[in-house]
Amino acid sequence: MSQLSGQDALKAQVAHAALAYVQPHAWIGVGTGSTVNFFIDALAQSGIAIQGAVSSSIASTQRMQALGMHVVDLSEVPSLAVYIDGADEIDAHGYMVKGGGAALTREKIVAAQAQQFVCIVDQSKRVEVLGAFPLPVEVIPMAVPQLVREFAKLGGNAVLRMKNNQAVVTDNGQHILDVHGLRLTEPLALEARISQWPGVVTVGIFAFQKAHVCLMGTPAGVQTLRY
Ligand code: 5RP
Repeated sequence: MSQLSGQDALKAQVAHAALAYVQPHAWIGVGTGSTVNFFIDALAQSGIAIQGAVSSSIASTQRMQALGMHVVDLSEVPSLAVYIDGADEIDAHGYMVKGGGAALTREKIVAAQAQQFVCIVDQSKRVEVLGAFPLPVEVIPMAVPQLVREFAKLGGNAVLRMKNNQAVVTDNGQHILDVHGLRLTEPLALEARISQWPGVVTVGIFAFQKAHVCLMGTPAGVQTLRY
């Protein structure tokens, strides 16, 4: 860990701290992203014998399987003791913006099945008001023009996420809109509202599936925040 610099060192720090929330023989949910990658590596090295993991993305599944971990479908487990994932932003209530890695739909589904959501972030993710990070929304492709207009009515500029000059395709075969310029002062209400728009698969506001615990990496050590 000492060879890592800056933000990566903080991510590795919280990834190790999250091991305290993993009980032997438990089924756990595992999120997606660079912070979670540190967690997956730390879990593999820890020797904690979990029953198995439910993954929120193809990328996390591949990483866990490459390390010899048992990954199963959500339908195969009775419940999840804990779900461990990163976030793009988290506020004082444990409400989050997620989806920077385009895995928000499966993340929300898996989180909903877990008894406890443990969010692992470096301190750069802590915000007073959600929305500075462009809000990811997974959408059905044919709805994109209509949804761009709906977000404009809210004052948001929705931009189709691209990679290599192609629209990003999620693990679910859909697209991502990144909505710039919103201030999410009422995350619960906005999550409920946007979720009802035709063509929205999942909005990246995690207010109904908020964090129960946040492990936040700081230069002074890991802060544990409970909500
Ligand atoms: C992926 C996510 C990630 O949790 C979020 O983007 C944070 O990623 P990172 O740990 O790489 O900063 O929501 O869809």
